[in-house]
Amino acid sequence: MKSFGLAALALVAPVQAGLRFGCSTLTIQRLDPVVEPGKLPSSHLHHIVGGNAFNATMEGDVGSRGTCTTCEMSEDFSNYWTAVLYFKHSNGSYHRVPVVNNAALAAGTTGGMTIYYTQFDFSKDNVKQRPIKAFPPGFRMTVGKPTASTLDEAKKHVGLRYNCLTTLLNRGAEMPDFPTKKCAAGIFAVHHFPACWDGKNLDSPDHQSHMYNTITRDGFTDAPACPASHPVRMPQVTYETVWDTTKFNSLWTEGSGKQPFVWSFEGSSGYGTHADYMFGWKGDSLQRAMDRDNCFYDGCGTITKQAMSVANKCTVKDMVKEDTNGWVAKMPGM
Ligand SMILES: *[C@@H]1O[C@H](CO)[C@@H](O)[C@H](O)[C@H]1NC(C)=O
Ligand SMILES: *[C@@H]1O[C@H](CO)[C@@H](O)[C@H](O)[C@H]1NC(C)=O
Repeated sequence: MKSFGLAALALVAPVQAGLRFGCSTLTIQRLDPVVEPGKLPSSHLHHIVGGNAFNATMEGDVGSRGTCTTCEMSEDFSNYWTAVLYFKHSNGSYHRVPVVNNAALAAGTTGGMTIYYTQFDFSKDNVKQRPIKAFPPGFRMTVGKPTASTLDEAKKHVGLRYNCLTTLLNRGAEMPDFPTKKCAAGIFAVHHFPACWDGKNLDSPDHQSHMYNTITRDGFTDAPACPASHPVRMPQVTYETVWDTTKFNSLWTEGSGKQPFVWSFEGSSGYGTHADYMFGWKGDSLQRAMDRDNCFYDGCGTITKQAMSVANKCTVKDMVKEDTNGWVAKMPGM
């Protein structure tokens, strides 16, 4: 099945384990505790969701430090972030593209992302859960890289894709680079992380080599077995973000083969799309959910959900203090 469409969602019987939930936007700042720990500000702007232990530096057990989270799953104090999308006007000015929530999420989710923890082929029925090991405290990883510069590089990473939304419920084809036409309901970005772990390292110098990706076709289909170098099967973590590009549609003309949207690191092709993950579930809560069969996006019977009105009260300080709204001559840090 192509990107797990909302229409298909309703048809899936709850016979497989997996978590799917929304997290409202926590903050939009130039911070990156995985790639540039301690750097305040980091090189480019990020859209961040999750727990309030988020900081320029994050070591140790994040879940034990968090006291609130913007995620619907109330025991999840992890942080999830990606670069931010900007509109580049032909007059040279930039404007940040707002995020809107995925239409299927809990009422009250504001902006944010849809987060998945799965390990299944959703197109098959009654697949018995494979043993999945939850991430240990301190675990972190990234996927994709801002320096990816060719279409071939982008195509190879089947877990990193865009859709040109015709409606919030209709995604159209997946593509490895930005759509070049106007999208009636925005640009949808998906980031599938690798799910095979070396069993030893919480991180690695490039933040990627402690993990291994075995997805070869679609991110939501059953991935081939993990290799001997990375033998431990972890949850398949996926982010989905809906960028509301529609308010800029009257400000540009199609047909030049180029589109006016750029990632906050000056990525105008879309090839450099990337995402960061900082594990922060409280105690063994994620493991408990992953050990269950017969549950899907309901917390797997073990995780308490919170009302999004409560989740939305969770905030972190503005540590960088720079303007990320309105028209600007340059994107933050560029
Ligand atoms: C963030 O880090 C600073 C500096 O280490 C520390 O003073 C502050 O308490 C931290 N904030 C949170 C929410 O952990
Ligand atoms: C570019 O256009 C936008 C939208 O009309 C405007 O707000 C902004 O000030 C313009 N920038 C320059 C440099 O003219």
